[in-house]
Amino acid sequence: MNPETLNKLPPILQKNLDKDLCVCNNVLKRDIINAITNGAHTIEQIKAKTYATEGTECCKKQIERLIECLVIEKEKD
Ligand code: FES
Repeated sequence: MNPETLNKLPPILQKNLDKDLCVCNNVLKRDIINAITNGAHTIEQIKAKTYATEGTECCKKQIERLIECLVIEKEKD
């Protein structure tokens, strides 16, 4: 993962990249960040690529936050 990508995230979100962000489907945080940087900019697109949120959606808020940091910030430039 590109260090610039990580720098867009607040320090608290830069941790635990190799842990499951979506525990229901064992999707690593790293894989979700990669999906976002590769063009999945909505929960639906991330679900289609990684299966994250496909369970109880308990990870949805965290993923929305990642999208906000990685995509919405980028669009402001
Ligand atoms: S942790 Fe992702 S759907 Fe439950």
